Amino acid sequence: MLKNLPQLEADPLWGLLNKFHADQRENKIDLLVGVYRDESGKTPVMQVVQDAEQRLVDKAESKAYKQLSGNTKFNAQIAQFLLGDSKKIDTQCTIQTVGGSGALRVLADFITYLSPNAVIWNTDPGYINHRPIMEAAGLKVEKFRWQQKHGELDLDACFTDLSKAKAGDIILLHGCCHNPTGIDPTLKQWQALADYCKRSAVIPFIDMAYQGFGDNPEDDAAGLRLFINQLDLVLVAASCSKNMGLYCERTGAAMVVTDNTQQLENIRTVLERITRANYSMPPEHGAAIASLLFDDKKAWFDELSTCRNRIVNVRQSLGAVFRELNAPLSVQIISQQKGMFSLLPLTAEQMVILREEFAIYGTANGRINVAGLQTSQIRTLAEALISIIKS
Ligand SMILES: Cc1ncc(COP(=O)(O)O)c(C=O)c1O
Repeated sequence: MLKNLPQLEADPLWGLLNKFHADQRENKIDLLVGVYRDESGKTPVMQVVQDAEQRLVDKAESKAYKQLSGNTKFNAQIAQFLLGDSKKIDTQCTIQTVGGSGALRVLADFITYLSPNAVIWNTDPGYINHRPIMEAAGLKVEKFRWQQKHGELDLDACFTDLSKAKAGDIILLHGCCHNPTGIDPTLKQWQALADYCKRSAVIPFIDMAYQGFGDNPEDDAAGLRLFINQLDLVLVAASCSKNMGLYCERTGAAMVVTDNTQQLENIRTVLERITRANYSMPPEHGAAIASLLFDDKKAWFDELSTCRNRIVNVRQSLGAVFRELNAPLSVQIISQQKGMFSLLPLTAEQMVILREEFAIYGTANGRINVAGLQTSQIRTLAEALISIIKS
């Protein structure tokens, strides 16, 4: 069997991270991996999470198996968090998953199970793991352009590419804080995308990995809720990795919202059948923590807003330095984008120069994690960028 083992290249992101760790320069800057960092460069465990963990230890409940759907209280709470006061709370089925990635995969398997010829329409550029997850589930993936024009998403480009989608295909959208571009639709544009789905019978699949990292948890869910309230079938993958800082606890949820309420129980059975044949049931610890955070949203939201405000402040400070240095508009726009990521307008070769000459590490496609920047590094990045663009 092993004679068939292919010689695969190491994951490019982790390969670059290894390079970063081996780099001896003291002034090196890591803007690679998508984790939140505070001003000191740490990815802290939130205080509310530490308190919740202490309470769980004190209670020391059983480790006996939970449901196949995971922690049912967590499922109800995350559904509420996603949907707010939408009436569709009564017409959804939510199961806990192994992080947001697990939710993406379970829903991809769900699509394959029900509609194997459906094509997934993925934003270009898009989240690096969307295509592999969808393809691993046996689905075909096509792309549509996701880019900025006059400071906003260029919907004409989206719809031109999407004109090739057929009824029953799936459009994979980012609920907020688009990864890697930071370009989010306005509410009007969400409406235009929802109208497109209605008109073309294309099914929306919304990946909500950063709720609370853009504007605030409510506003970040506005596009998702608009879709849910207007369309009769929406798939949602949610992650607690960023907004609760639960990364390695692998906590997320897969949700199917449908007007066909008679099918809800069947949907649950199919989703559970999918997870049963994979990892059986998700890990409890992260969901138990998340559930306690949902119980006391105020304390959690306070800490979440500290993370969000830091990202917003970094973007604003970058914007101020860009203006001072008369940077091109393609660079200045970074200050208006949302969430942790932005794409630098640099080629792969220029990203190598950024790394080798300036010790600043972003991914080959130009993605940087804005939350990785410390205040003292803002000017360094701005000057390096402008120098590379000008030369
Ligand atoms: C857009 C997007 N979706 C999903 C995920 C996966 O999140 P998780 O770590 O919860 O699997 C990420 C993580 O970076 C992401 O950026």
